[in-house]
Amino acid sequence: MIPRITGFLHGGDYNPDQWLDRPDILEKDIELMHAAHVNCVSVGIFSWAMLEPEEGKYDFAWLDQVIDRLYKGGIYVILATPSAARPAWMAQHHEEVLRVNTQHLRMHFGERHNHCLTSPYYREKVRQINTALAQRYAAHPAVILWHLGNEFGGECHCPLCQQAFRDWLKEKYTTLENLNQKWWTAFWSHRYTDWAQIEAPSLLTDRSNLAMRVDWQRFMSHQCKTFIAAEREAVQSVSPKLPCTANLMERFWDYDYFSLAESMDIVSWDSYPEWHNEDNIAEAAEFAMNHDLMRSLKKQPFLLMESTPSQVNWKPRNKLKRPGMHLLSSLQAVAHGSDSVQYFQWRKGRGGSEMFHGAVVGHDGTGDTRVFRDVAQVGKTLEKLEKAVYQKPVKAQVCILFDWENRWAIDFAQTGQKGNMRYFDTVNMHYRALWEKGIAVDFCDMRESTDLTGYKLVIAPMLFMLRGGMEEKLRDYVQNGGALVMTYFSGMVDEYDLACLGEAPHGLTDVLGIRATELDALYPGQENGLVTEEGRYGITELCEILQLKGAKVLGTYESDFYAGSPCLTHHTFGKGQSWYLAAKTEQAGLNALYGHIADALEIDKALPDQLPCGVVAAKRGDCVFVQNYTHRAQTLQLTGKWINLLTDVPAEAEIAPFGVWVLQKA
Ligand code: GLA
Ligand code: ZN
Repeated sequence: MIPRITGFLHGGDYNPDQWLDRPDILEKDIELMHAAHVNCVSVGIFSWAMLEPEEGKYDFAWLDQVIDRLYKGGIYVILATPSAARPAWMAQHHEEVLRVNTQHLRMHFGERHNHCLTSPYYREKVRQINTALAQRYAAHPAVILWHLGNEFGGECHCPLCQQAFRDWLKEKYTTLENLNQKWWTAFWSHRYTDWAQIEAPSLLTDRSNLAMRVDWQRFMSHQCKTFIAAEREAVQSVSPKLPCTANLMERFWDYDYFSLAESMDIVSWDSYPEWHNEDNIAEAAEFAMNHDLMRSLKKQPFLLMESTPSQVNWKPRNKLKRPGMHLLSSLQAVAHGSDSVQYFQWRKGRGGSEMFHGAVVGHDGTGDTRVFRDVAQVGKTLEKLEKAVYQKPVKAQVCILFDWENRWAIDFAQTGQKGNMRYFDTVNMHYRALWEKGIAVDFCDMRESTDLTGYKLVIAPMLFMLRGGMEEKLRDYVQNGGALVMTYFSGMVDEYDLACLGEAPHGLTDVLGIRATELDALYPGQENGLVTEEGRYGITELCEILQLKGAKVLGTYESDFYAGSPCLTHHTFGKGQSWYLAAKTEQAGLNALYGHIADALEIDKALPDQLPCGVVAAKRGDCVFVQNYTHRAQTLQLTGKWINLLTDVPAEAEIAPFGVWVLQKA
């Protein structure tokens, strides 16, 4: 994946430019990196003002020294392009680089991650500095990867972006008439007669046009994608072989990550779970999904680009990681496909808002801290696991559909639990039911190239929008023997966010053997129930009413005027089968459903054994990562003989609180 690299990367964001007046500290860093088993740092992420102190005048002398010193010390460098924050002179002389917010106010200089993605001047300045960096460092033996910008996000409403939006729309719809039709602008007299009348949805403009809002997200996503592509093009025009990444974020909504991933060679992301809650298990389930989603973007191992060695500084309460948690959470990423454990940050700065953010090295400047020892332990562990795990694939027989455009459309839809339909959380609940059983999961979206063949089970929660011919793909998949799970609020609009006419879920009623007729919303605290042969599971938020069209009823509603009517169904279609879940059940309902499905389809699990609640297993290559997310030691009885690669002895019966094992068959 990364030329020359044969093992896990371990290190983090390094800001030597904050310490140039302290050569003693920079010297000490290398020594401490060795002690921490760190082999790689990311440099220059926010260094633009140091690299180009005056417009057109570059100063690379300090960076030459930093990179040479790291190289001599045997530390690899991930070199950043500095586009995530601008020098003050640029904002002073070229206002267009500054974003205009949703109230149409142009921001002033300050903060970061807030440049206009359209500004031709900004794009040109980025191209120039990226090219200069590449010419100087792409061939340096220390440099292994480009880190493009940092955590891209947000939107800009400046005149340049508005015009680019109109151009993008013209390209997509060709004529205004077509746009008016697809946007259903006869509604509220919103018909456009001139392209210039179109303004991006904002607090001051139109938010009633849902199709436009989805298009605006697509457009901003497209701007970001082309921005990243242009950054990559600049550095790779000098040295095509050096791969590029851009660090992504958790639960990220603004841009379509499946699409952005096409502009990079390697996916990386920044993971900041809140491990200190009573319910670490829900947090672990969510972050396992985040990791799997990142792995799925390119169907290859990813890099954990940032995580904290101890605490963050931006939550209302910034708790420490409990003993054991650092190794456990780092290996969770590895188990799900990460080929690195990188931190924000190597060393705490003396000032600025992140001076108290967790770091490998604190203000004491020593390696004699709990955090430092935890980091060194992770480093040593990664060295140990290199042979068995590095670059190894995660093989999944289950695929969950998670689609950004569908997500935007769901969040804009004004019905049901308006503005709070909880798509991400719902997908995570389906995921969690499998994760707890040790079943590996891939994700895919609805792009044309999505291929479902080969999966034993496909799950499509809340598939509200259909695009990319997904209904035909799902039909073929089931027809040819696949197993499909779908839920309420599916197959309702097309890719233009126009309601599908006819019975819902559109194009799939025969595949599912049901027809969805109405969607009911429950008040907070209100419950219905799903009653099956085995028991009763609570229902909150959403209940859809079904009409049977051949499916078999597995469960019915407990109460309300639709009591006794179907809530969970099963249907055979072609050589395959489908389940339809009409309501938002509690987790236990999903656990029971997927328990049956996994058994019926004989889906592979990391371990055949039933593990205690809060202990999960995940498989990568032929290693099984057993993870205890509870505050208690837990007793396990495993079938077969296993060696724990972390201790080189057979797996014991008891796993420590926040303990982790990496097992291989003995
Ligand atoms: C993000 C950023 C970093 C830093 C960390 C703090 O991930 O990329 O620069 O601000 O958050 O947790
Ligand atoms: Zn703009």
